[in-house]
Amino acid sequence: MEEIANHQSSTINLRTAVIGVGSLGQHHARNYAEIARANGSEFVGVSDTNEENAKQIAAQNNCDYFTDWRELLGKVDAVSIVTPTETHCEIACAFLESGVNVLVEKPIARTLAEADAIIAAAEKSGAKLMVGHLERFNPAMVALRPLVTKPLYFEIHRVSPFPNRSLDVDVVLDVMIHDLDAIQWLVGETVKVSGIHAVGIPVISDKVDAANARIEFENGAVANITASRIGTEKIRKTRFYQTNGYVVLDYATKFASVTSLAPNAIHPLLGISVNRLEINDVEPLGAEIEAFLESIAGDKTPPITAHDGRRALELALGVLGKIDEHARKVFFE
Ligand SMILES: NC(=O)c1ccc[n+]([C@@H]2O[C@H](COP(=O)([O-])OP(=O)(O)OC[C@H]3O[C@@H](n4cnc5c(N)ncnc54)[C@H](O)[C@@H]3O)[C@@H](O)[C@H]2O)c1
Repeated sequence: MEEIANHQSSTINLRTAVIGVGSLGQHHARNYAEIARANGSEFVGVSDTNEENAKQIAAQNNCDYFTDWRELLGKVDAVSIVTPTETHCEIACAFLESGVNVLVEKPIARTLAEADAIIAAAEKSGAKLMVGHLERFNPAMVALRPLVTKPLYFEIHRVSPFPNRSLDVDVVLDVMIHDLDAIQWLVGETVKVSGIHAVGIPVISDKVDAANARIEFENGAVANITASRIGTEKIRKTRFYQTNGYVVLDYATKFASVTSLAPNAIHPLLGISVNRLEINDVEPLGAEIEAFLESIAGDKTPPITAHDGRRALELALGVLGKIDEHARKVFFE
């Protein structure tokens, strides 16, 4: 809260709202309401096509509710869009075209054409556009990021029990996209992907529920990523190697460590040092929303741009293309 209070003057005049207050959107609403209470800005309301949902979350946060997001046009300066991915393009474009700043949840959209339409709407009006790749704000990632040099080989697992939501998209667009964004960010935003191999399968839903991808970069880095939404436990673990370092990052437990040879060690085994990083345990979503509001108040580029969101989507669609290719070979040839 202290941190929020520090931003009192910068975001004080912003009127905010959340569109879609389901499983994740309710937490966006809670954070906006907390920020408004701390700095005197105005959390105008929430919108959800499910009136019960809208009413309940509005009551919890002491704000208005709307069943049609269009009613918020003209009443707000900034919104989070936390509706199913298939609706992002229509809603984001409408707000951006009317000059409202938008934080849209990942994935930015279902297709690159939709992502481009969203980007064009933001460029036309000059409104800020940020994409909610939340893991970048995980305290473990925040602590680790400055220590990342040149990752060469990633082993990543992201597994959860069946969520019974976000079923408008497959597991790649739903959750693997977090890791696809992270590896591109860590390997280097200008380093191109040079190869994709992938396999995936629908198990419970009619879309891919479990997938494995091997992503190769033109600088030699390789990532092996497993994502599943039909697991029996929750795993959010990334391990990678970079010159002189082995890194462990656990988003679920907010743990990060770097194992390396201790400086001046004489014996390579006895001289191993495991540096467990110190974590500033803030809520990632609160930090993400704060960063979005600060980018508006300070007229700065948001920390996760629409182009970052588009790049992650492009790689996710590339993975899906390879899964499709593989499935055709296995089942139809
Ligand atoms: N960043 C993350 O870690 C993260 C985590 C979970 C979900 N998400 C993303 O957030 C979005 C929502 O996911 P969720 O799990 O909260 O889904 P959800 O189904 O729990 O919630 C979506 C809500 O949107 C409402 N809605 C649907 N169409 C609407 C419309 N046209 N106008 C207003 N409200 C509408 C629904 O009634 C529902 O309450 C998805 O894009 C998903 O990928 C991101």
